Amino acid sequence: MNLFKNYNLIMKSYITIREGEKRMEESDGVGNKREKKRKRNEILMKKKSIDEIIEAAVSDKDPLIHFPSLHYYINHGLSVSLKSEHGGVLSCQLKQYIKVLLKANMEVPFGCEWPAEEKVKHREMVAPEARYIFVYETSDCDSNRITNTSEGMVVGFVHYRFVIEEEVPVLYVYELQLEPHVQGKGLGKFLMQLLELIAQKNKMGAVVLTVQKANRSAMNFYTGKLRYTVSAISPSRVDQLLGLQSSYEILCKAFDPEAKTILEAKTPHHLLPPREPRRGTGQSGFHDKFYGLQQCKE
Ligand SMILES: CC(C)(COP(=O)(O)OP(=O)(O)OC[C@H]1O[C@@H](n2cnc3c(N)ncnc32)[C@H](O)[C@@H]1OP(=O)(O)O)[C@@H](O)C(=O)NCCC(=O)NCCS
Repeated sequence: MNLFKNYNLIMKSYITIREGEKRMEESDGVGNKREKKRKRNEILMKKKSIDEIIEAAVSDKDPLIHFPSLHYYINHGLSVSLKSEHGGVLSCQLKQYIKVLLKANMEVPFGCEWPAEEKVKHREMVAPEARYIFVYETSDCDSNRITNTSEGMVVGFVHYRFVIEEEVPVLYVYELQLEPHVQGKGLGKFLMQLLELIAQKNKMGAVVLTVQKANRSAMNFYTGKLRYTVSAISPSRVDQLLGLQSSYEILCKAFDPEAKTILEAKTPHHLLPPREPRRGTGQSGFHDKFYGLQQCKE
């Protein structure tokens, strides 16, 4: 009888312990589920706010409007005015201009990759999300007399987009192309600074761009003067072997702490190329090539 009683007592306490454990497991499960749901909501909210930032930036018809004092650049005997355009509505002449300048500036740095790259660039050129700033050389150096209607000859352009990189909204510079005779006069730096202002005005976390390793001059321009760093998402930072195989680096300048952590992290200074003497200017013949074209070829 005693034996039976003891057995019952043991069984009762075993059941009580199991029930307690079960209740704890269940409450743990509910806690985990709540935590997972909270995290998922956080991610969704963040994604939504990033999408809204990009949407707002993309819907801004003319980002230049917010910087009226920067519509002109007059320095080193150069006088230019700027104008915004969109990839989807580029005129036939501007499309042809882009093609010719791209080939003139980029065929050498791209080397044997150029034919394939050229096709990609021609496709990217007319994408609706492509944003442009075209640079027009004005004959008049007096800033007071330059008006919006005094467009001269186009001498360069910037192609940029508002995109998401590693969950950070960024202004991605697809192209910055200047004709040889306007290079080395501070215009490239001015345009990059303008892009940085446009990026910050539109709540982008960073400006990002890709440079061919063979384009030493451009690499020095970005990393030397403009203080851009090799991004943590660049092939050479992602994987050493990948870095050796790839012909380009991704550079960035981040504006907020989160973007800095994700896109910049620590800068491997040993990867930055040594400074080179500045590239010479004054190569001629570009305008002859472009304006000599009789017809607009698509
Ligand atoms: C690269 C490019 C955009 C630079 O623009 P740019 O107008 O010629 O350069 P800037 O005159 O604004 O130079 C700004 C500063 O960088 C310096 N710099 C320019 N090129 C340099 C170089 N190769 N090495 C070191 N410093 C350089 C200048 O001395 C200047 O310094 P400062 O402010 O003390 O005077 C222009 O040369 C270009 O269109 N090149 C051909 C196309 C190309 O390679 N585009 C980049 C593709 S990613």
